[in-house]
Amino acid sequence: MSSNWTRREFVKNTGVAAGAVVFGGAMVDFLAACANGSSTTTTSKQLEIFSWWTAGGEADGLAEMFKIYTGKYPDVKIVNSAVAGGAGTNAKAVLATRMQGGKPPDSFQVHAGQELISTWVKADKMEPITSIWNSEGWDKVIPNDLKTIVSKGSDVWSVPVNVHRGNSLWIASSLDSVAPNSVDNLDDFLSSLGKAKATGMTAPLALGSNGNWEVTMLLENNIVATGGADFYRGLFNGKSSWTDNNVKQALTYIKSMLNYVNSDHPTLGWDQAAGLLQSHKALATIMGDWAKGYFTANNWKADSDFTGIPSPGTAKTYMIVCDTFGLPKGAPDRDNAINWIKVCGSESGQAAFNPKKGSIPARTDVPANIFDSIAQRFIGEFKTAALTPSIAHGSAAPEAFASGVNDEMGQFVQKKDVNASATNLAKLADQFLK
Ligand code: GAL
Repeated sequence: MSSNWTRREFVKNTGVAAGAVVFGGAMVDFLAACANGSSTTTTSKQLEIFSWWTAGGEADGLAEMFKIYTGKYPDVKIVNSAVAGGAGTNAKAVLATRMQGGKPPDSFQVHAGQELISTWVKADKMEPITSIWNSEGWDKVIPNDLKTIVSKGSDVWSVPVNVHRGNSLWIASSLDSVAPNSVDNLDDFLSSLGKAKATGMTAPLALGSNGNWEVTMLLENNIVATGGADFYRGLFNGKSSWTDNNVKQALTYIKSMLNYVNSDHPTLGWDQAAGLLQSHKALATIMGDWAKGYFTANNWKADSDFTGIPSPGTAKTYMIVCDTFGLPKGAPDRDNAINWIKVCGSESGQAAFNPKKGSIPARTDVPANIFDSIAQRFIGEFKTAALTPSIAHGSAAPEAFASGVNDEMGQFVQKKDVNASATNLAKLADQFLK
């Protein structure tokens, strides 16, 4: 570039008004090109993806999707900015700081539902992806139920990459010999745990509760078990009460479960709890099917070393945990981010990602036979199940309510006071759900 470039040429060649303060990839590339004396190149060569997928299974799924992207766009370097901590306990705080400071990543993991809509869309921090959705023809392959929870007004705000089942019970194969009871309902499940304990296994139910959200999952699953899907859904629109006996019973079941868990649970994460099954210290754990991703990443075979069924009492329901990716306003590498979103919504992207992640695809056209037998059952069950949105994973309620519930469950684990917790949950609902 010659030093006497005119202002008009600058604007024409860069799209940047001279004198404008611009941060980010395009300007950096441009200045680098100037320094090299080469002609202008403003095409960004980077893509920063933000998530909390660092554990076995989830990190592997993400890596598969990166491979698909890199196969299509070999010149773009992917920067993986994952922040460890299940359910985004740490990542969400880092993301909030970056978004508020005007330094968004190019695209980030966000749960369908309230976490997306009443946080980022409401704060006007996202670009709609409606035109991408339409041009990619996703109406034909992504169920309308999922589209609805990533939509607001006439726009779509992110693309679902999967559906996780929050109400899952994982059982090491050895449970059969130790505790032959059925585990289909909560009473039978507890009596199975009792039998296992009687054989000398002190903590047959593995729990990692270092984020408290893991106990919120026990709560939401148990409420579906005691009250059914309609009662559970009514808790978010005022039709059901948080002090109802169904909620108290659900808490009472958690209290009973706590008699069978490892005492170090407040210091462990979900993946470390899953590891207790693999080291034969525990027989079962209740966790979303990302735990299946963890088991298979660590060389366990589905329906052979372990199996997975709906958590006790929740057959025919699906606790929806839906991961999506959206386009923040001001994404530094916007074109690359758009291509990333296309990969997330594509058949090849979802076919590569979901078998490792443990989830089922959001798209209906990904062949079921590429999945393990547990996922194949879940794919079948999803079609007819009553769908219930997860609190712990951002879909059912605004963030402020979800984090209040997590704190309350942290209290409950210590105090085990059913009535006090039900009352406090009702107060949170009054404060944040009305
Ligand atoms: C959830 C997320 C899952 C899984 C899990 C554990 O919130 O939706 O994809 O990663 O956290 O980290």
